[in-house]
Amino acid sequence: MFRVNKRVLQAASGVVASPLDAITTHPTKKQEILNMLKNHQPVKPLTKDQRAYFNRVIRVDQAGELGANYIYAGQFFILANKYPHLKLVLQHMWDQEIHHHSTFNKLQLKHGVRPSMITPIWTLGAFAMGAGTAFISPQAAMACTEAVETVIGGHYNDQLRVLNNFFKDKELIKGEGNYEINEIIETIKQFRDDELEHLDTAIKYDSKQAVPYMILTETIKMICRVAIFAAERV
Ligand SMILES: [Fe+2]
Ligand SMILES: [Fe+2]
Repeated sequence: MFRVNKRVLQAASGVVASPLDAITTHPTKKQEILNMLKNHQPVKPLTKDQRAYFNRVIRVDQAGELGANYIYAGQFFILANKYPHLKLVLQHMWDQEIHHHSTFNKLQLKHGVRPSMITPIWTLGAFAMGAGTAFISPQAAMACTEAVETVIGGHYNDQLRVLNNFFKDKELIKGEGNYEINEIIETIKQFRDDELEHLDTAIKYDSKQAVPYMILTETIKMICRVAIFAAERV
């Protein structure tokens, strides 16, 4: 009896063996990790501290996007009929906030993160801020958007810095790492870009002409920073 080598048989039948064959029968560590990523399994569980930070990110961002949603609702409610040229502009930004909010709602459910306990305050406060500034003038509403998106853009950048520096497991696979971390990084990156687009839109629609510009924007920035601090913790 003699054994026929698999490769000899494949060569004889014209089927060329792929280098992947070896991986399929004996998965390498790299292939194993790639399969886990494909199946959305965490490659390496987060440490206790990483999990605490990760949950905090989801909690504060869900609360923030809820707030953003209601700010635009308030602005739309006051301005849409009175200023038809702003209707579509506001609607577009509001639609994006609805998408941001629902994405974080899903992430919150998926990872079992409890929502901020003062959610009703974010809802009411945000609607009042949106409607209140819109009531002053369309420019004041845009100044509100400019201030909010400046703070949120910076907040998202801070989170991206932490997630990229302390979470990605670069030793496992360069540029890959843990699926849940990659997912949140990509989500935040995309939303950060949307927020910065809203900031540009606000400036384009005369946020700088708001009176009193400095008081409005600095007060709103301060409120946003306090809200972020609180929503991360409570
Ligand atoms: Fe947003
Ligand atoms: Fe936004």
